[in-house]
Amino acid sequence: MVNADPQPLLQMRGIVKEFPGARALDGVDLDVLPGEVHCLLGQNGAGKSTLIKVLAGAHQPTEGTVLVDGEPVTFPTPVAALKRGIATMYQELDVVGGLTVAENIYLGHELATAGVSRRREARRHTRELLRRLGHGELSPNREVASLSAAAQQVVSMARALSHDARVIVMDEPSAVLDSDEVQNLFRVVRELTASGVAIVYISHRMEEIRAIGDRITVLKDGRTVAANLPVAETPTADLIRLMTGRSVEFAFPVRVARDTEGTAAPVVLEVEDLALRGTFSDVGFQVRAGEIVGLAGLVGSGRSEILETVYGARKATAGTVRVGGTRLRPGSVGAAVRAGIGLAPEERKSQGLLLDEPVYRNITLSTFGRFARGGLLDERAERDAATEQAASLDLRPTGVDRAIRTLSGGNQQKAMLARWLVHGCRVLLLDEPTRGVDVGARAEIYALVRRLADSGAAVVVVSSEIPEVLGLADRVLVVSEGRVVHTGPTDQIDEHTVLDMVMEGSAA
Ligand SMILES: Nc1ncnc2c1ncn2[C@@H]1O[C@H](COP(=O)(O)OP(=O)(O)OP(=O)(O)O)[C@@H](O)[C@H]1O
Ligand SMILES: [Mg+2]
Repeated sequence: MVNADPQPLLQMRGIVKEFPGARALDGVDLDVLPGEVHCLLGQNGAGKSTLIKVLAGAHQPTEGTVLVDGEPVTFPTPVAALKRGIATMYQELDVVGGLTVAENIYLGHELATAGVSRRREARRHTRELLRRLGHGELSPNREVASLSAAAQQVVSMARALSHDARVIVMDEPSAVLDSDEVQNLFRVVRELTASGVAIVYISHRMEEIRAIGDRITVLKDGRTVAANLPVAETPTADLIRLMTGRSVEFAFPVRVARDTEGTAAPVVLEVEDLALRGTFSDVGFQVRAGEIVGLAGLVGSGRSEILETVYGARKATAGTVRVGGTRLRPGSVGAAVRAGIGLAPEERKSQGLLLDEPVYRNITLSTFGRFARGGLLDERAERDAATEQAASLDLRPTGVDRAIRTLSGGNQQKAMLARWLVHGCRVLLLDEPTRGVDVGARAEIYALVRRLADSGAAVVVVSSEIPEVLGLADRVLVVSEGRVVHTGPTDQIDEHTVLDMVMEGSAA
């Protein structure tokens, strides 16, 4: 018999994974061919990350088989999976703080514990890998915790490459990258697949699947609902139907013309000549009650730093921040919080979530004062408030008593947003609010942010997705190289113009 189909490099058959109280995987099949980009699609909580953790040897399957080159294998540890050529970039960035870039990349390699000369070799390899990834500027000696999320992602990628893997699994790698960085990632992916390496690629962004994917497997509620669909022949509407079981409008929020600048709504947040030496300077803007202002720009342009400085997490080297006319003490988060500013940060794992605490506690975290009665927390009130907000965001699974660690990445993100709903801030700073959130839940988040603004909050949103900024915000500030290069209403500018500004500014 002639076998026209190439032998799958990797097969997963009937994979089941049970956690106490949750059947995360309920019979998943996956076939991966050499040299292909195999996309794994599914809503938040569908089981994508759990599946790839089984593949990586980080979870043991309750049932099912994994075959490499047609041969059954078991991976009792991540090292065992690496030895069979399976390297994984996890959704939650797993670089180790306190270690350098080179040490992180060579963690688990024998080079890491070897003598001085081998360590020098590790640094040299690191430099080569980083250059290959287009990041020759990253020093192998930098401590990883001091790097941006995007740079940490590059380190994680370099680590995967360092193993000469045959399959590289990427769990939402683009979630922390801007469009330039994503192109860079795709270039590396193409190089890898050309040499026969298979990529398993997870993303909630359809345009990425279209740009880089060959075949798609769709998961829903822990099961494979469609396998090996050719990307080119499968319309997005079909994919969304498979993922959600219904048709969902896949669109950024419809723009509503709003003339908030001309209204009498009071200015809530006033930022004047704000600067952080070496990062940004001369940043000034005002946000009225009910208004959403978007910051567009590349990763590294200073967007997140502007938010963090307004919040007091970084100490401004010049300029002022006022809330309701009162000037805030620079570099004081306490002062910002007392004035009613909330920040939903970009790196939720390191900055926002208490992973081992229950969902409700994470949601009510910064509102402790509200639920304290005679110094004791009123657990019932806390839980009730959290339950209400969790429901409004369709947080899954629904119970708020489980540890937030056990929620899928996208659901953790929703919990972070729910926190600000409960909190009732006057000024809300949102850094990449829809990162890692599936197409259905995005719409809910857009509606929620608008609801918050309508209730009188002043909102500032940072997003790498320009259509998102333009759709969600009333006004946009385009940031390039630490400067605001344009300010104006979002209904008078289009995506390409913004993109040009972002690029030109950074080339100058
Ligand atoms: N350690 C755990 N204990 C209990 N339940 C878990 C655990 N890890 C995952 N789950 C549950 O398994 C299901 C699948 O989660 P998983 O993280 O695989 O989803 P996902 O498809 O990667 O979603 P996302 O797009 O949000 O990243 C979810 O319902 C999640 O709550
Ligand atoms: Mg996931």
